[in-house]
Amino acid sequence: ATSARAQAAAFAFEPVPAGTGFAIQVPKGYAWKPLVRWGDALVSEAKDSFSAETGVSLAMSDKVFGENTDGMELFEIDGKQVIAVNSEYVNPEINLPADAEGMPRTADEVTLLKNMQGVTVIEVADNGEGYAVVVDSPFNRRITNDTQMTMDGPAAGTDLTKTSADPEGKSPLGTLNNCGSGRTLWGTYLTCEENFNGYFGMLTERDQTEAEKRYGLKGESQYNYEKHDPRFDLIANPNEPHRFGWVVEIDPADPKSVPVKHTALGRFKHENAEMVQARDGRIVVYLGDDERGEFIYRYVSNGTWTEGQPTDGLLSDGTLYVAKFNDDMSGEWLALTPETTGMTLPELLVYSRIAGTKVGATTMDRPEWIAAHPGKCEAYCALTNNSKRGGSMPVNAANPREANEYGQIVRWRPDGEDHGADKFAWDLYVMAGNPDVHKDAFAGSANVTSGNMFNSPDGMAFDSHGMLWIQTDGDDSNEGDFAGMGNNQMLVGNPETGAIARFLTAPNGGEVTGLCWSADRKVAFVGIQHPGGSWPDGNGKPRSAVIAVWREDGATVG
Ligand code: FEO
Ligand code: CA
Ligand code: CA
Ligand code: CA
Repeated sequence: ATSARAQAAAFAFEPVPAGTGFAIQVPKGYAWKPLVRWGDALVSEAKDSFSAETGVSLAMSDKVFGENTDGMELFEIDGKQVIAVNSEYVNPEINLPADAEGMPRTADEVTLLKNMQGVTVIEVADNGEGYAVVVDSPFNRRITNDTQMTMDGPAAGTDLTKTSADPEGKSPLGTLNNCGSGRTLWGTYLTCEENFNGYFGMLTERDQTEAEKRYGLKGESQYNYEKHDPRFDLIANPNEPHRFGWVVEIDPADPKSVPVKHTALGRFKHENAEMVQARDGRIVVYLGDDERGEFIYRYVSNGTWTEGQPTDGLLSDGTLYVAKFNDDMSGEWLALTPETTGMTLPELLVYSRIAGTKVGATTMDRPEWIAAHPGKCEAYCALTNNSKRGGSMPVNAANPREANEYGQIVRWRPDGEDHGADKFAWDLYVMAGNPDVHKDAFAGSANVTSGNMFNSPDGMAFDSHGMLWIQTDGDDSNEGDFAGMGNNQMLVGNPETGAIARFLTAPNGGEVTGLCWSADRKVAFVGIQHPGGSWPDGNGKPRSAVIAVWREDGATVG
């Protein structure tokens, strides 16, 4: 292994040690402060309404920043900086009174939870004391589990997406479990619906269908929605879950715009959506399905696009593919079509997982974020970990370790340097591991050392210099197989040399998720989800937050 010191020399910052406790660590010469926390006001009416003891009130719950921040993107709109940011899920025990014991008991309590999730759009500006939310900006907006949406693509308006409340099957309400993000080349936001299954339950018992089993839909929900909103009762509304698990496009420039669910991009537990372009101008979107043994997908539009041209149909008319990673380190994209799957077009989109199995896709170790290199034709996917690898889910070359507790990052180079090509070559950029504890494959690849080790890569983004920022969501016990790794963290990887250095550590209990930059690249915005302790305020409830990180000498960060 190349020493941690030699690897660190390749970076413009001094790496931080493993983190413990609740303080954020950033490199020497850098500083940070919260940009926006759970419960912070978007409008004057909600100012100072957050309580350290009781959190957010129902009345203010759609006027403040949501909980559990995740994917985000920054947009420059008419000289303003606007961030669209996901709130993935809620911690019911933090949002509800203690006597609720972590489960909502009334329709109002369900509405409170619904409002703490979804998407927040905020204008941000440097007010002389660093970046802050521009309260009352006309761009500020909350999109929740109940916001009116529309759907397009082959599965919209079909018998699979119609419900009693929406007989046309094109007007779904709300977005659920918004995990990773993406941005279109034309400046809109993509929010990705991940663990939507956990919001549905059955008020009376019946056996699950095969499709419900494959998508993790069960008799019991995690959040009791079905007891207070019949939309979430699988008995009354068996098609309602078909209206979730999509990639949703939001125009951050128009606070009145109706979000669009794009069924052409497939239905699964979407992590993020990384958009690039094929050489011939077709739109390509890389997509991961974060579940043990599920797949990596690629969408390719039929139409082509150049800047300034109309975007109609680019995300509703195309072909969905699923990845096969061969053991000889070649790979191919397998088209999901009625011919290849024996399913109708709406069926193979609503049940993409089932279609992927039919064509022989490679089972992966939980595909999280996919990031495309800005300077060359290459894409990286974080495979976070997979406790079920082995046995009936045998190892393969891209997912080579049984009971994989550390994860790896796979990358592929499309043939002909064209994201539109159907074949690629792949390798592993890093196998996470613990070289202090293990001497076998669980020690990790050569670029993993005592000084940079981590587990469970999740969020990823390239900066403008072609450096890969890696965020983790793993075991932060700092014990046993995870001894020496400390809290969750954000690292920077050099894709050319393989060198990796630790840039930031999170408060214990939290994961690092979501990354974007100010327009001048002098500030990085970083998400901290489900922190422990009383972070960041030091008293009362812990608050998920987006933080700003900058160099004290005013130089760019990435
Ligand atoms: Fe919400 Fe797969 O992370
Ligand atoms: Ca994630
Ligand atoms: Ca994760
Ligand atoms: Ca998470």
